[in-house]
Amino acid sequence: MNIGIVVHSQSGYTAKVARLLGAEFSKKGHDPHTVLLRTTGKVAPGSTSFEIRNAPEVDGYDCIILGAPVWAFRASPVIMKYLGGLGRLSGKKVLCFVTKGLPFLWTGGRQALAAMEGELALSDAAMLPGEIIWAPACRSEAKLQPVIGRMVAACAG
Ligand SMILES: Cc1cc2nc3c(=O)[nH]c(=O)nc-3n(C[C@H](O)[C@H](O)[C@H](O)COP(=O)(O)O)c2cc1C
Repeated sequence: MNIGIVVHSQSGYTAKVARLLGAEFSKKGHDPHTVLLRTTGKVAPGSTSFEIRNAPEVDGYDCIILGAPVWAFRASPVIMKYLGGLGRLSGKKVLCFVTKGLPFLWTGGRQALAAMEGELALSDAAMLPGEIIWAPACRSEAKLQPVIGRMVAACAG
């Protein structure tokens, strides 16, 4: 299965989840391709005046995983801009995840995930259950293993 893993990450937690996902998909015999979204200039919560320099096409993927940090109770503007440009995703599985620093789900995790999934509502993708990951857990690969396992099983199942 061809898997696209497309994430925005500023301090590296979301990127680490992406790296572990890629390793787990490879171990299971899949073909993952990971892209860390890069922008022109600095981006902060609420930014609109930036461009994504390396937005990947997703035509070749059977499954797409999209990840981003929660910023100021929202999904990062970078991933939202990328999702807004995706168009139709008929026949593809899609799973969104966010990483977040504050410990409760109501401090932006649910809102951010709902916004990402909402942006894809008209894409015709087969949406898989999203994940909210607490950033401190990202410091330990062992702590991340259950969520990595769930995401890989959902995509490859
Ligand atoms: C500008 C900014 C705003 C943030 N806002 C929130 C927030 O509203 N809720 C939360 O749980 N974490 C918040 N965080 C913490 C990040 O979501 C968390 O550290 C995340 O895992 C960073 O991902 P990254 O390392 O991939 O950039 C914020 C971080 C930054 C830099």
